[in-house]
Amino acid sequence: MDLLYTNVRPAELKRIDTPQAADAFIEAQVEALKAQIGNEKVLLALSGGVDSSVCAALLIKAIGKNLVCVHVNHGLLRKGEPEQVVSVFRDELGAELIYVDAVDRFLDKLVDVSDPEKKRHIIGAEFIRVFEEEARKLAGSVKFLGQGTIYPDILESADGIKAHHNVGGLPDDLQFELTEPVKLLYKDEVRMVGKQLGLPDTMVYRQPFPGPGLGVRCLGAITRDRLEALREADAIVREEFANAGLEGKVWQYFAIVPDMRVTGIRNGKRAYDWMVVIRAVNSIDATSASVPQLDWSLLETMRDRILNEVAGVCRVAYDLSPKPIACIECE
Ligand code: XMP
Repeated sequence: MDLLYTNVRPAELKRIDTPQAADAFIEAQVEALKAQIGNEKVLLALSGGVDSSVCAALLIKAIGKNLVCVHVNHGLLRKGEPEQVVSVFRDELGAELIYVDAVDRFLDKLVDVSDPEKKRHIIGAEFIRVFEEEARKLAGSVKFLGQGTIYPDILESADGIKAHHNVGGLPDDLQFELTEPVKLLYKDEVRMVGKQLGLPDTMVYRQPFPGPGLGVRCLGAITRDRLEALREADAIVREEFANAGLEGKVWQYFAIVPDMRVTGIRNGKRAYDWMVVIRAVNSIDATSASVPQLDWSLLETMRDRILNEVAGVCRVAYDLSPKPIACIECE
């Protein structure tokens, strides 16, 4: 079965909906990758998202140390994410992992930038620049570029719905051949394969997370202290959803911190602090979304923890807005 050289899902590739089917896919794909790559090296941008993580785990199984992963920490990842990528891939799976601490570089570029589109553009462009720098250091010694393309990306490109953007934006003088080991799989199949490869559930069932990360949830011009408050509040929201057994049941849930202050009273004195907005949505394909009716006790637990544990926050709200009219993200 031609798993690496076609963009059309072959009829022989049955739905991967059981652990056995995932194991069979892994076995076939590992052989195909070995044949394609031989003794060459592969470079992969590893974000910690499910697609790139499964792609990396498959490549490690096929070529081991000949996979070079680059994880760029742009400072806009959620609490614990960069550490988890390093611990899973470098420590547990023994990957060759280049960790790039680009936090200052990104946050310095974002100072006083409040326009959402400008923020997105700066984050996207800087990401490509950092990755390109790493790729240049390795150019010559690396023949392939690995990508976590999945089948809906290919279908959408073919339909002209959206250009399939790869980590690319890489300049033409950096010549790589592509290897895309999960490009014939749908998202649920990628998850099943990831699970069989032994990746942790927090990675396999990770909710959708925008490329610009917390950058589009720390509304307006990002400041380091407000970004930290957001990261802490977001961690509490995720933890309490998990405690309530809602992980994987609600499509997306997160915190937002608008660029404004509100009054409150703390220890008998006036406070003038931030407000955390909790956002949760259910959706099938993100084109529309509804707001789940959460248990009041869950909302109260999150509220109490955020008010008590997150410095600089004196108010918590729950966003009731469906998409449309609201978008899932605020920026
Ligand atoms: P909106 O805000 O458009 O979001 O209703 C729809 C879905 O897309 C996610 N999203 C992004 N994902 N890069 C991504 O990979 C992005 O720049 C981006 N912006 C939004 C959002 O989280 C939601 O799931």
